[in-house]
Amino acid sequence: MRTHYCGALRSSHIGETVTINGWVDRRRDHGGVIFLDLRDRSGIVQIVSDPQRTPDSYEPANALRNEYVVEITGRVTQRPEESLNTRIPTGEVEIYADKIELLNAVRKQLPFQVSTADSESVREDLRLKYRYLDLRRDRMARNLQLRHQVVKTMRRYLEDVENFIEVETPILTRSTPEGARDYILPSRVSAGEWFALPQSPQLFKQILMVAGCDRYYQIARCFRDEDLRADRQPEFTQLDMEMSFMSQEEIIALNEKLVSHIFKTVKDIELQLPFPRITYADAMERYGCDKPDTRYGLELVNVSDILKDSGFKVFREAVANGGIVKILPIPNGNDTISNVRIKPGGDLFKEAAEAGAKGLAYIRVREDGEIDTIGAIKDNLTPEQKQEILRRTDAKPGHLLLFAAADTGTVNKTLDRLRQFVAREFKLIDPEKINLLWVVDFPMFEWNADEKRLEALHHPFTAPHPDDLSDLKTARAQAYDLVYNGFEVGGGSRRIYQRQIQEEVFEAIGLSPEEAQSKFGFLLEAFEYGTPPHGGIAYGLDRLVMLLAGEESIRDVIAFPKTQQARCLLTDAPSSVDAKQLKELHVASTYKPKS
Ligand code: AMO
Repeated sequence: MRTHYCGALRSSHIGETVTINGWVDRRRDHGGVIFLDLRDRSGIVQIVSDPQRTPDSYEPANALRNEYVVEITGRVTQRPEESLNTRIPTGEVEIYADKIELLNAVRKQLPFQVSTADSESVREDLRLKYRYLDLRRDRMARNLQLRHQVVKTMRRYLEDVENFIEVETPILTRSTPEGARDYILPSRVSAGEWFALPQSPQLFKQILMVAGCDRYYQIARCFRDEDLRADRQPEFTQLDMEMSFMSQEEIIALNEKLVSHIFKTVKDIELQLPFPRITYADAMERYGCDKPDTRYGLELVNVSDILKDSGFKVFREAVANGGIVKILPIPNGNDTISNVRIKPGGDLFKEAAEAGAKGLAYIRVREDGEIDTIGAIKDNLTPEQKQEILRRTDAKPGHLLLFAAADTGTVNKTLDRLRQFVAREFKLIDPEKINLLWVVDFPMFEWNADEKRLEALHHPFTAPHPDDLSDLKTARAQAYDLVYNGFEVGGGSRRIYQRQIQEEVFEAIGLSPEEAQSKFGFLLEAFEYGTPPHGGIAYGLDRLVMLLAGEESIRDVIAFPKTQQARCLLTDAPSSVDAKQLKELHVASTYKPKS
């Protein structure tokens, strides 16, 4: 019978006989004495087997190999002075093994070394295929524990302090519009009809407010068939919340208390309240994006008004065509960023081009305050324009000014990308810093140029700002996103709760009354039976834990994630199914395998 976890043993246990279970992390033979590192979920402890002192355990110890599963009984002993290990919590003690029982051996060559002592980097596809081995590793085990701590803290706080109840909502449901493609499932019973997996519990949580639930939360699984990145999975988890009779200010204040409680509990970090706020318009102007990383400066400067009549065609035409000219000023950029890097073929040019920019104009500020740039720019700048550009960008000798001139979207995308690239390159980011920021006053809609229609920036259930009701198309939304070091970790809004406004919003995004009725008739109807004002938010749990764990991919904080190709390498899903199964589901495949 196990008496202790490996990682729990301390000098206070010295003299006790303990029984522990675990995996052999490493085995070393030091001149006839065998040392084992035994690992379980809690950590590692050193075991000693000595042919003189513990003859009964010597043979079994000698036969052990990495990852064998054992039960060991022995006496906790003080380590000699010279072998104290301050790097692990059990480093003051070791266990002299009286008895070692092999519970299970490893019968195949391990695909990679699990031992925490081995820091070799293992290919991610191998880690995902043999995830059970990967999760034994210290880093991953710690990430799972942290994730558990975060969820536990959320539950305790919301239930015990704020009076929320958890309600589960269906997985087999209708499409919920969060802007991604749906995963759909054919119904066997209702021939020709399909369920969609929820992109979020949005509509159900609103219906729960109509139902008088008042304060709902759920650790909810969401499904979105979208292009994957390091911070996106097709199947991910939200902390999803909704509450009735609360203003935007009250919702934000409650959430700041929740988030700061999480930081305090799991990281012992005291956050300053309230969190800073920035409007969407300001964020786009100063950072070129709606989730700015504010741990460093490098703010963008709009110079469209200075250059709208410029003799340099690129600048003049950008503004004439309704676009803008903006600058990313880089202090000391002169020395470090050569022209080769800005011109086609260079790394900065490549970043800009990937964001859609056609070129990357620049100005260098020299020691005497003179500027250095291509002739076409220099010859076309009046002394006043030059002075105003230097003044507005606060440019000093050594500054490099990078220009983007195009439509507003492309300019912002380009300079946002370059800003992040330069910050990483010049190590301007303090990894210890935690910047939480609310982005508020989003517009209700943005223009979808491909489909030539307005689309909801958040989702079409977001309430317009009460001051902007006269023109919905340009209205601000009562929406708020929480940004953590440049990642959107949460987003929410107050909701529409009146049928007429909901119908106007559907109309604005190009949904006909018939379509609105067939997709969301149940919601519109519910609004007519006494719906309270309500609002909510959802956090990306995986993203939040990733940032708290200091990881760079959400795959490292999810037990069984999918690859970038949306596959599970452990179970090899998705997989083909029998023709019989398809037939039962009234589905025929049009897929023709390549021969
Ligand atoms: P939204 O779509 O902004 O809002 O999602 C909320 C948060 O979920 C996280 N997230 C993701 N995490 C991992 N992989 C993904 N594919 C992914 N997509 C989103 C982000 C995001 O901030 N129903 C609304 C919430 C509301 O209005 O209350 C919603 O789902 O961190």
